[in-house]
Order: sequence, then C-alpha cells, then structure tokens
Amino acid sequence: MVQISALRLLRRPGTRGVSLLEYSTPRHYSSAPLRARDDARDARAFFTTPIFYVNAAPHIGHLYSALLADALCRHHRLRVPSAAATRFSTGTDEHGLKIQQAAAAAGLAPTELCDRVSAQFQQLFREAGISSTDFIRTTEVRHRIAVQHFWGLLKARGLLYKGLYEGWYCASEECFLPEAKVTRQPSSSGNSCPVSLESGHPVVWTKEENYIFRLSQFREPLQQWLRGDPQAITPEPFHHAVLQWLEEELPDLSVSRRSSHLHWGIPVPGDDSQTIYVWLDALVNYLTVIGYPNAEFKSWWPTTSHIIGKDILKFHAIYWPALLLGAGMSPPHRIYVHSHWTVCGQKMSKSLGNVVDPRTCLDRYTVDGFRYFLLRQGVPNWDCDYYDEKVVKLLDSELADALGGLLNRCTANRINPSGTYPVFCTTCFPSEPGLVGPSVRAQAEDYALVNAVATLPKQVADHYDNFQIYKALEAVSSCVRQTNGFVQRHAPWKLNWESPVDAPWLGTVLHVALECLRVFGTLLQPVTPSLADKLLSRLGVSATERGLGELCFLPRFYGHPCPFEGRRLGPETGLLFPRLDQSRAWLVKAHRT
Ligand code: MSP
Repeated sequence: MVQISALRLLRRPGTRGVSLLEYSTPRHYSSAPLRARDDARDARAFFTTPIFYVNAAPHIGHLYSALLADALCRHHRLRVPSAAATRFSTGTDEHGLKIQQAAAAAGLAPTELCDRVSAQFQQLFREAGISSTDFIRTTEVRHRIAVQHFWGLLKARGLLYKGLYEGWYCASEECFLPEAKVTRQPSSSGNSCPVSLESGHPVVWTKEENYIFRLSQFREPLQQWLRGDPQAITPEPFHHAVLQWLEEELPDLSVSRRSSHLHWGIPVPGDDSQTIYVWLDALVNYLTVIGYPNAEFKSWWPTTSHIIGKDILKFHAIYWPALLLGAGMSPPHRIYVHSHWTVCGQKMSKSLGNVVDPRTCLDRYTVDGFRYFLLRQGVPNWDCDYYDEKVVKLLDSELADALGGLLNRCTANRINPSGTYPVFCTTCFPSEPGLVGPSVRAQAEDYALVNAVATLPKQVADHYDNFQIYKALEAVSSCVRQTNGFVQRHAPWKLNWESPVDAPWLGTVLHVALECLRVFGTLLQPVTPSLADKLLSRLGVSATERGLGELCFLPRFYGHPCPFEGRRLGPETGLLFPRLDQSRAWLVKAHRT
C-alpha cells in the first residue's frame, strides 16, 4: 500500500503558497501480494464509494460505482482476512440546492425526500450484497460535527476569506462553471437558455458574498503529489487529465452560499447567514465515517481508496486533496476512476425515460448474475452500453455453460461415483513436461493449463491493483475455457474406474479440473459471492480454506501433500447457475421494444 506518511505542508518563506516538501517513498504490496501481511497497520485499507444524491431513485450506474468498491474491498479481505483491517463506506449526499429544489418540486419537505430515497439506496445495496461497514447520511449529527470542525481548521489556517463571488452555477452538478463551459440552448418558449456544455443542465448567473477557499495556492503541491505518485489516480489517463487541468489557472473556490438562497445544508460556524458548500460538506463524509475529528480517524487516513465516476474527478482529485492539505492532512492513497453506463447508446436520464432500474435487473438475472455482468462488461476507461440481450448472452455462456458445465462434468455421479476429490497420480502427470513413459498421459497443453491457473491469482491481483476488474474476470473466464478444453481432450467419461490402466489417469483428470475450479471459486468470491460459495461448498472447501493466503494450487504436482485429496465433496445443491430462460415474458418484451 502506498503510504504518504510524512507529508508535510510547509509555508515557503516570503510567499503565501504551500509546498509538499516531504513525503516518504511509496511502499507497495510485497512481491508476494497474495500473502497476508504481517504488519497489521500496513494491512489496513479503507474503501469508499461516492455518496449518492437523493434527488432520484438509484440506477445501474450508481450500483456499478458501489459494486466496483465492493469487489475491491472483498478482494482485499481475501488477501488480508482480518475483518478489522478493512473498512468500506457508502451513503447518501442529502444537502444542497439540488435536493432542496427536488424536494420543492415533489411537494415534500427535504427530510422526507432524503429519508425516502436514502432508504431506497440502503435497500438496493443490501440486496446487491454491498458489504459496506458504514452507511453515512450527510444529515446525521456526527457529520455536521465533522464538517464544522474541518471548516474551523481551514479558517484557523487562514485559508478562508470573505469575498464577492460570481459566475454560472449549475444546481444539477452543484458547481460553478466558467464561461467557456456554458452554451445557449433554445427553450420551449423559444428563448435561448444557458446550459452546461457538458451535461446540458441549466445554469444560472449567481453573484454573492461568500466564503472563499484559497485553492489557487495548492496548484504546485497538487502537481508534486501527482508527479511523485503516478498511481495516485488510476487508470492512468485520468491521472494525466488531472495534471493537464493543473496546467491551467486554478482560481479560488467559493465554499459557502447565502442561507437565504440555500437553507438546506450545514451552517457556517459562527455565521448563520451562510451555508457550507455541498461539495465541501459531501467530501468530508470520508472523514466522518472513520471517526473524525476524534483521533481514531488517524489510523485509517490516508490508507484510503476512493472509487468514483469520471464526472466527479475534479472534486476528488483537485478540491478534496487541496482541502485536505489545507487542513494539514495527506491526500487519499488512491483514487480509482470509472466511466459511465449508457443505455442502447444513449445517456441514462429521467427525461429520456431510459433509466434502468437495478432492482429489476437483480430480480431477472439474480444478484450474482447481475454483479458479474456489470463488473465483467464495465471498462473503467470507456463508457459501456447496456442492453438486456447482452446480459443473457454473457451469463448463459460464461456462468451457466462454461463454469456450471465444468463443475457438473467433474462432480456428476456417473463420472465421479465416489463423490470425492480423487487422487492425483504423479506418474500420469509428472511435474517435468516432456517426460515419456508408458504411464505418462499429460500433454503439452495440459502443462500450459497448469501454468495458466497457477499464475492466475497473481494476475487477478495485479488487475485489481490497476482497477481493471473486468480483465481479472476475463482472465478467469479464459482459464475456465482452457479447463473445459482439458476435460474435453481427455474425455473422462470414456475412461473406466474399474480398469487399473484408466483409473489413475481418470482420477488425475478430475483432480486437476477440481483444483482449477477451486481456484476459480476462490477468485470469484469478490464478484459473485453466493455463486462462489455454492461452488466451493460443492468442492468441500471449508470457510477457513477460502482466502488467497491458503490458495495453494495443485500441490501434488509440485510435490506437496494436498489436503483435499480423498476428501468427500460437498452435497449436491442443483445447478450452479441455471441458464436464463429465453422464453421468460420480460425477455420477449425486451426483444420487441
Ligand atoms: N453526490 C455526488 C458525489 C459526492 S461524493 C463526496 C454525486 N452523486 S451522484 O449520485 O450523482 O453520483 C454518484 C456516483 O454514481 C458517481 O460516481 C457517478 O459517476 C456515478 N454514476 C452516475 N451515473 C452513472 C452512469 N450512468 N454510469 C456509471 N456511473 C454513474 O455525484
């Protein structure tokens, strides 16, 4: 884990600027990243999702953000099994003009809207198996205390001043936009109305006396942080984009609104006429959940990984680190950025009526099925397009046919009548490739399979580190295909348990295939937890044998004892993943529309 442990904010003599003068050499996972780390502090990790606006019900894009964080966090837990070592927060962003206006439009008090929609997010995340350890609502008292304390620090450090702030404000994005980011669009009345160039949302000219944060002082420190830690923002194109932004002017930032205009928020301490800017309020949630301002937060900060969508990169990679540096803290350890889901080629929006309801999808495709789909198809670097047929095709081919079929082939009573993990025969499959002899049955492709599966956990871990979860799943899927090829090649159904010539090789073929399945089940736990549990239980793998530290693939091949050999398989509990029935009414309907 990279630990920016000794990051110090120092004022340069004769300037009002600040610079990052010191930070320790980044430390990464050891070269054996799958081994649990000895040092409990280094093993700590804190994952966060963005907190979600409560102006509308959750959609699949929100679920995707949460799933990426969930998979990263679950993968970390597989590496470092001690539950105390990992924290994972999510929640709802409930203040600000956007929510104030949405509540007014719905004829509700803001609290009513917040309670209603926040409950929908909580229910969705529960159903989708999001394994968060905290769900924060920014309307909670603990959060107000944290935000006001944070504000007090900025004030005490001379980083806030009062001044006239004017510009285009977009309530939908909750930010000021420069003139270059605003365009005119004809409205229904025929007049042209100013809108955000990127999102198309309306903007209004705002001129107010506000508290302003000296953001401009942080350009250099931010550049130093990012240049010194090339993995701070992953994937790389987003890191590069932030450095590009920092080449441009970085104006100071208005961090409050007049309370008469925005009453739904946290008041500025000591000045009730101003409400704290919703983004400052929202970003501090990441500290609230680790106990800030109590000292306990220090054992979790900055071992933090923020998972965010590309639309909120500037807030997390510029404003947030600058605010943290201003308050005397280090920037977050990692910012993982993902792109967006479109639907049938279009941006998802209420007005287009194409919002995909994630709960319907969980119902149709099962929780594990839909989790697998979003994480297997979602590519962080580019937007991805959603349509129903794509889900059915992927799940039927990869989970039902390839993985489920493989399990069935190796455990079915007619092929494995003893219902055990058979014995591996080292003379049939010697560890040295190319040996010849009457009992040697393994072929070159079989060695390639063993090599591919042996290196898979490391490959998968590297993809997780680089926030390329889809590549991790692609690698697993490719090994599943290779294992099916292995079984097909040796056709165990043609071998006979009664024959002294066939039996050792038949056992070996099944043993190798079951070992491959054990690796796949272990590695799929972060993405498809229930399906992986079903698979591992069927193989007879106990709960304490499912971590990455315990995952020792095909030990008999490498000359070690195998704890599974001869063990009874777990009970048969039906198909691993039933094919999605093509005749279901909803699917027929989806084809028609
Ligand atoms: N409230 C702010 C975040 C504050 S974090 C301190 C916010 N909320 S949001 O509800 O609009 O978005 C939450 C997350 O959902 C963001 O990461 C955003 O990128 C993600 N998504 C919103 N629409 C999306 C898609 N269509 N596809 C994928 N993710 C999308 O921004």
